[in-house]
Amino acid sequence: MTHDISRRDAMLAAAAALAATAAGGARAQGGPIVIKFSHVVAPDTPKGNGAQRFKELAEERSKGRVKVEVYPNSQLYKDKEEMEALQLGSVQMLAPSLAKFGPLGVKEYEVFDLPFIFKDQAAFRAVTDGPVGADLFHKLESKGIRGMAYWDNGFHIMSANRPLHHVADFKGLKMRIQSSKVLDAQMRALGAIPQVMAFSELYQALQSGVVDGTEGVPSNFWTQKIYEVQKHMTLSYHGHLAYAVIVNKKFWDGLPEDLRTILDGCVKDATTYANALAASENAMALDKIRASGKTTVYALTPAETDEWKRALMPVHHEMAARVGQPTIDAVYKAAGFVPPK
Ligand code: SIN
Repeated sequence: MTHDISRRDAMLAAAAALAATAAGGARAQGGPIVIKFSHVVAPDTPKGNGAQRFKELAEERSKGRVKVEVYPNSQLYKDKEEMEALQLGSVQMLAPSLAKFGPLGVKEYEVFDLPFIFKDQAAFRAVTDGPVGADLFHKLESKGIRGMAYWDNGFHIMSANRPLHHVADFKGLKMRIQSSKVLDAQMRALGAIPQVMAFSELYQALQSGVVDGTEGVPSNFWTQKIYEVQKHMTLSYHGHLAYAVIVNKKFWDGLPEDLRTILDGCVKDATTYANALAASENAMALDKIRASGKTTVYALTPAETDEWKRALMPVHHEMAARVGQPTIDAVYKAAGFVPPK
């Protein structure tokens, strides 16, 4: 009997703890509010450094009322699982790549993956800092998520064990992609076979030949040691990598108002910091990859870039039904992108 009661009490306590976690983050008795910030990349990347800066600012400015635990490198969850964990309240904050929001049911985010849509980082920021960025965050609310900021991480390059100069070079290559249908269409348009895979599985998949190549940014190629398992890299800058810093909405709404104001300010300042790092960290990573001598780094000629663009522009039309033409038009306008006739 005693045993039954204590077991029932333990179950009730566990259920209550789960509910409290979902509603308000893990708060130790009388202790600080704990924010678990999970991400999939290395600490020494623009996102890793941005998360760390947020932690420092939040703990200092809240005067210890908040404790931020940063979990890098998919230590807690992989790509898909971290989204689910956020919605369940098992973690409070994430910064997933914008290419990973489609499976949540917000397909409009895949507009950011349209090939060659951003000519530079200013064009990307013109989109995220304006009404399109705000509208996309609004769409997350029905998923129990609040969007807080967009973090930039520069432009994608391609890699494989064969040189990738011309579109024909992609023929038959199994290319790892993030979970975006636009990226899937992009690889197919190049003649490759796309394969969705969690970021944490990439190195091994390339090493074992499960996939032949990938796209990514230099800071990730360096910190994940992709240069060890890819003989050739091409500076194609065909795509862009960016993140949305997001928080469990129920957790956020349950915080005292003054703390929300403090944390909003911390995210804002961490955003400035992370965005300022992106270009320099990617340039440094590329230098280190070159210096490793393990892979060739090839810059496309203007004629080759045109060839890639001709192959990839049809993806914009093909994906309009999925992403939504109004979203595409709004992004074109804000980014100053003029589709070729
Ligand atoms: C990231 O930078 O968060 C990972 C991107 C990827 O999955 O390729």
